[in-house]
Amino acid sequence: MKIFIDTADLDEIKEAESYGILDGVTTNPSLMKKAVAKLKKSGKKIDMNEYIRKILKAAKKTPVSLEVVGVTYKDMLAEGKKLYSKFKKDGNVVIKIPINPVYGKATNNFDGIKVIKELSKLKIPVNCTLVFTPEQCLLAAKAGATYISPFAGRIDDDLRNENGYEFDKTDYYPSGGAEDGTDVLEDNGIISGIDLVSQCMEVLDTYGYDTEIIAASIRNSRQARECALVGADIVTLPFSIIQGMIKHYKTEEGMTAFCKDVVPEYRAVLK
Ligand code: E4P
Repeated sequence: MKIFIDTADLDEIKEAESYGILDGVTTNPSLMKKAVAKLKKSGKKIDMNEYIRKILKAAKKTPVSLEVVGVTYKDMLAEGKKLYSKFKKDGNVVIKIPINPVYGKATNNFDGIKVIKELSKLKIPVNCTLVFTPEQCLLAAKAGATYISPFAGRIDDDLRNENGYEFDKTDYYPSGGAEDGTDVLEDNGIISGIDLVSQCMEVLDTYGYDTEIIAASIRNSRQARECALVGADIVTLPFSIIQGMIKHYKTEEGMTAFCKDVVPEYRAVLK
């Protein structure tokens, strides 16, 4: 499974890259907002073009998803083309397009899928975002998306909200249903975020699409593990989850004991 980092924070990208496990980066407008707030707090002058170039450089030619902010065909297409032509020389740019940018009163806006088709025709790689059903996934693949991002965490949030569960976003939500196993929360045939990822994979595999699934909106390391277990092509993870996957209290406990046991004779060998 490839691992992307889900952040626009340059320090986090550089640090994760140094672990030797990074295969790409995903950003979105909210992650950009967070990164800009951090830059502002540090008092640094912000040049967004330069900042994005630094992200691309830090990603070392692995795919970096940059999202459009327009909500109409015209705007999304123009922004997608602009982001691609502006940054393609700096790295491996992927354009993130929402499957269906319903916004405000525009409840019948199906422009996302049209833009996916158009950009794909131009050989501009697209990451179709905000996917919550396997059927959205199928249509995005047909339209030519290179990557599709089902939002596992947000599906879990939604299932629990719909069913009146009190929860914290970081709570684990099992792939097979609710915690006690007596009731399975189900929405439109989907019983968890991981189930969504798994169903999207199955649809694409059944019809032999090259499109890769990026399991997104991941809330904890156990969900990341489940993405691997269901064979997700890619998982995109917040930095804290990447670090959380490396840690274990027994590893720390073991190290404390090993460090205490080092005898001078053995230390001398290592000098
Ligand atoms: C990445 O492609 C998504 O934009 C991101 O994973 C969304 O995560 P969130 O649901 O935690 O905002």
